[in-house]
Amino acid sequence: MLSQKTIDIVKSTVPVLEVHGVAITTTFYRNLFEAHPELLNIFNHANQEKGRQQNALANTVYAAAVHIDNLAAIIPVVKQIGQKHVSLGIKPEHYPIVGQYLLEAIKEVLGDAATDEIINAWAEAYGVIADAFIGIEEEMYVAAETQEGGWRFFKDFIIIDKVKESNNITSFYLQPADGSVLPSYEPGQYITVRVNIPGEQYLLNRQYSLSQAADLKSFRISVKKDDENNPEGKVSVHLHQNLNIGDKVEVSAPAGEFTLSKERNTPVTFISGGVGITPMMSMLETVTKSQPERAVSFIYSARTKNLHPFDQDIRSLMESLENGTYKTLYSEEGDGYITKEIIQEYAHLDGDVYVCGPVGFMEAMINHLLDIGLAKDNIHYEFFGPALNLNLK
Ligand code: HEM
Repeated sequence: MLSQKTIDIVKSTVPVLEVHGVAITTTFYRNLFEAHPELLNIFNHANQEKGRQQNALANTVYAAAVHIDNLAAIIPVVKQIGQKHVSLGIKPEHYPIVGQYLLEAIKEVLGDAATDEIINAWAEAYGVIADAFIGIEEEMYVAAETQEGGWRFFKDFIIIDKVKESNNITSFYLQPADGSVLPSYEPGQYITVRVNIPGEQYLLNRQYSLSQAADLKSFRISVKKDDENNPEGKVSVHLHQNLNIGDKVEVSAPAGEFTLSKERNTPVTFISGGVGITPMMSMLETVTKSQPERAVSFIYSARTKNLHPFDQDIRSLMESLENGTYKTLYSEEGDGYITKEIIQEYAHLDGDVYVCGPVGFMEAMINHLLDIGLAKDNIHYEFFGPALNLNLK
C-alpha cells in the first residue's frame, strides 16, 4: 500500500505533469525506443508519428494517479486498455522498462522541480498502477488460452480465402497453420494481425474486427485499403496488394469489450459508417442465428454504393429476422448523412444502440442519440486506434 504522504505528493503533482504531459511522453518514447528498439515491433509507428499514443498514455497515467487511493474506480478503463495490451502481446516484463523511461522523462522535462521525493513517490505509484494492469492482463491471457482452441500471444495463420467486398474493402479468411480448432468469440471483438513487410525494419501490428459470427472454423477480417502514402495504411495496403491465399500472417486471440450482449433480448440498432460496418456484421449475424425474434435495425452510411460491402448478406440476414429494418445512405449519391430524423425514423430507441465508424461520424451519431434522449448506458461504441477523447455533449 502507498503511504498517505506518497499519495498526497502524487496527487499534488498531477496538474504540473499534465501541463508538460505531451513533452514528457514525447521524451519518454524517444528515449525508450533508442534504448529498446525491439519495442518498435509492438508499437504502432503511425500513432507515434501523429502523437496520438503520447496523449493516450499520458492521460491514462494521470487519470490513474488521481484515483491512486481507489484504483477500483478505474478498473473499467484498465480493462479496456488491457484488452488492447493483451491483443498486442504486452508482457509483465515490459512494465518496469516503461516505468524507468517514464520517470526519467519526468526528470528530464521538469529539471530541478523534480525532487527525489517527487520521483520516488511517482516510482511507487507507477508500480501500483502497473501491477493493476499486469494482474488484469494475466487474467485475460489465462481466459484466452484456457478456452478450447485458445492461445497466448501470437500464432501462425494461413489465408484460406480472399474476397473482394466493395471497391476498397476485401475480406481475408484465416485458419490456424497447425490445423487446430478456433476458439469462439464475442461478436464485436477484434484480433491483432502482425506482418513482416519486406523493406520494413520492424514487425507491424494492426487490429481488425472479426466481421462474421464465430464459427470455430475460420476468422474473417474485412480490411479497407488505405491510402498508400498514409503510414497508417501500410498493413492494409500490404494485405490487399501482396498477401494471397496460402500466405501466412500472425494473429493474436480475439479481444475487446465492444461486444453485443446476448443476455438481452431488447431491440437493438446498429449504426455504422464506412469500414465501421465490420464488427456490426459479426453482431448482426450472431443475433440472426441465436435471437431471430429480437427487433433489429441496421443503419449504414457509405460515400457511394460501390464502397458498400455486404449489402446482399445483410439483405438475406434481414429475411431471417422476424422484425428487421435496413436503411442505407450514400452521401455522395444524394442521400446525405445519417441525421437525427433518420435515426428517429429507423432506430429502435427503446433498446441498445451500437455505433462504429470514423471519429467524426461517431461524434455526430452519439450526439444525435443523446439529443434524442437515449441513456448513455444504452449507447455502445468503439473507434479504431488509440482511445481518443470524443467531443460529446
Ligand atoms: C495502448 C496506457 C503500459 C504498449 C495503450 C493505450 C493506453 C495505454 C491508454 C491506448 C488504448 C487504446 O488504444 O484503446 C498504458 C499505461 C501503461 C501502459 C497507463 C502503464 C501503466 C504499456 C507497456 C507497453 C505498452 C508496458 C509495452 C511495452 C502499448 C501499445 C499500445 C498501447 C503497443 C497500442 C497503441 C500503439 O501501438 O500505439 N496503452 N500503457 N503499454 N500500449 Fe500501453
